[in-house]
Amino acid sequence: MIEIVLVSDNKFEVQTREDPEPVANQVRIRVKASGINFADIMARKGMYPDRPSTPCVVGYEVSGTIDKVGPDADSSLVGKDVVSLTKFKGYADTVITEQHHCVIKPKNLSFVDAASIPVVFLTAWMLIYVQGGLRQGQTILIQNAGGAVGLAAIDIAKHIGAISIGTASGRKHEFLKKRGLNYAIDYRTEDVSKRVMELTKNVGVDLIIDPVGDSWQQNYNLLRHGGRIGFFGASTLSDLGGSNIISKLFGLVKFFFSLPRWSPLALMDVNRGVFGLNLARMWNDDRLNAMLQTMVDGHKEGWVRPHVDKVFAFDQVMDAHMYIENRQNIGKVILVPTKNDIPH
Ligand SMILES: NC(=O)c1ccc[n+]([C@@H]2O[C@H](COP(=O)([O-])OP(=O)(O)OC[C@H]3O[C@@H](n4cnc5c(N)ncnc54)[C@H](OP(=O)(O)O)[C@@H]3O)[C@@H](O)[C@H]2O)c1
Repeated sequence: MIEIVLVSDNKFEVQTREDPEPVANQVRIRVKASGINFADIMARKGMYPDRPSTPCVVGYEVSGTIDKVGPDADSSLVGKDVVSLTKFKGYADTVITEQHHCVIKPKNLSFVDAASIPVVFLTAWMLIYVQGGLRQGQTILIQNAGGAVGLAAIDIAKHIGAISIGTASGRKHEFLKKRGLNYAIDYRTEDVSKRVMELTKNVGVDLIIDPVGDSWQQNYNLLRHGGRIGFFGASTLSDLGGSNIISKLFGLVKFFFSLPRWSPLALMDVNRGVFGLNLARMWNDDRLNAMLQTMVDGHKEGWVRPHVDKVFAFDQVMDAHMYIENRQNIGKVILVPTKNDIPH
């Protein structure tokens, strides 16, 4: 098998090794496409606490065909096309995963699109539907609406019948509106708080989902009574202070001192809710598989619309990471084993 090994911080190598064998309830997938997530970029830089120590293989999701199962797994799965969560090791042409993390891939869903669904749609579903309880007619503020989770959030908000406001770089606005975002704010040139209050006629929003981390307190102040805010990332940490170690440290200290502190008494007085999500920490939650099935069914129903921006081959993995880090992507970036596997 071939895998992309993170041999040390910031250094990938494509390596060959013997095929792994599935045991117990495991299945083996011959991978057609692997999803890249922002967590992989943090992992590459050594900034992701959940990452195993190097050398390791990162990657949280794949699509492909099951070619072998462990003795306790369902043998009828052999030959089936699936989409699956993988806790690390997804950047490979062969992966071992638990049977319960797989969902059968419908024929009309391509392998590349399938690999782009699990992490971002489950994240958005947890934040908006499960934890955020967004309802028809309510207003959601989606921070980083042009990211892959942001696009999934737009699909889910639209499906629910909510009004969506999203922040993103200006060049993404036209595309995001075509996808169904009701109002776009350019956080680089506009005052986000002021625009949100204008758009909501000074009422505020019902739900905010925020993976950026540079304005958590300001966003919290935009909630109306009964409003909730969900935190699920701190992208701002990825480029703190550039490459200079001193300014990086200074940036980190500044970040930690800027963290909001909420007391239960204060929350009561303002009728607000605060929650967080780390999907990787609920890997063995038995609801995950049912939720992934809901997302795949949502694709059949037409409201889950994976958007793959660009596909790279395994040996272009660093280019793929830089494409995301340089903020060029709108939506998902996918890896396939060889250049010949890149769809035209
Ligand atoms: N907690 C969880 O379970 C969970 C699960 C999935 C993702 N996440 C988090 O959600 C966030 C977004 O993930 P994603 O997959 O949607 O990411 P993505 O598609 O890679 O988003 C990239 C976009 O993020 C924006 N961005 C804002 N700050 C950035 C920065 N410092 N560096 C690079 N890009 C930045 C840029 O858009 P603009 O140019 O429009 O600003 C960029 O194009 C990440 O922080 C990720 O770790 C968390």
